[in-house]
Amino acid sequence: MADVEANMKIDDRRKILFTPQRIQKRIREMVTRIEADQQGKELVLVAVLKGSVLFLADLVRAFSRQLAFDFIGVSSYGSSLASLGVVTLEKEISSDIRGKSVLLVDDILDTGRTLGWIKEHLRRFSPQEVKICVLLEKQRPRVIEVQADYIGFRIPDVFVYGYEDKFRHLPYIASLREGEKPPALTGRRKGWRVWGRSTR
Ligand code: XMP
Repeated sequence: MADVEANMKIDDRRKILFTPQRIQKRIREMVTRIEADQQGKELVLVAVLKGSVLFLADLVRAFSRQLAFDFIGVSSYGSSLASLGVVTLEKEISSDIRGKSVLLVDDILDTGRTLGWIKEHLRRFSPQEVKICVLLEKQRPRVIEVQADYIGFRIPDVFVYGYEDKFRHLPYIASLREGEKPPALTGRRKGWRVWGRSTR
């Protein structure tokens, strides 16, 4: 853990929002609530590739009950500042969710396009219910109205990185100070694609 802390101090362009300890504590709290709500139901976690994979792994390990999990993959295409809202399916779920309680897991709820599309898509498999669990919810107007049922942290409308989507190897979540590029990309790339699901 000492290395992590040293790494967190390396670059003052980054602003640490959530330390590894805080993330793990929050995940345990979320799971306690989910377990209480889901008692007696057959639970399947459906994680959105690839940004939510680490979050899913930590969530699953915090559970004290049996559950199943699966993955769904989508792409959305757009410019660096705004998605055009075209979501296409890249990987279908492979389990039978009919009659089951589905918990859709993603890293960030931003415009709502991705989770809105997936939630609608999953209805065709007749699950008993579809609830949404996100680690981060951006405080901004949604383009598609989507309500998350379980939220790790609410954050302002800033670009974040680490642990989730981008820079998954970092155990913490950081945001950039105004006008800064993520340290690992500085000098290596001019552009910085944020909303391209195809880059996930
Ligand atoms: P929508 O807009 O469909 O987008 O709710 C959700 C997905 O967009 C990605 N996203 C981000 N990725 N830092 C990232 O690394 C961010 O600040 C950010 N905002 C949105 C992410 O993959 C999320 O699941």
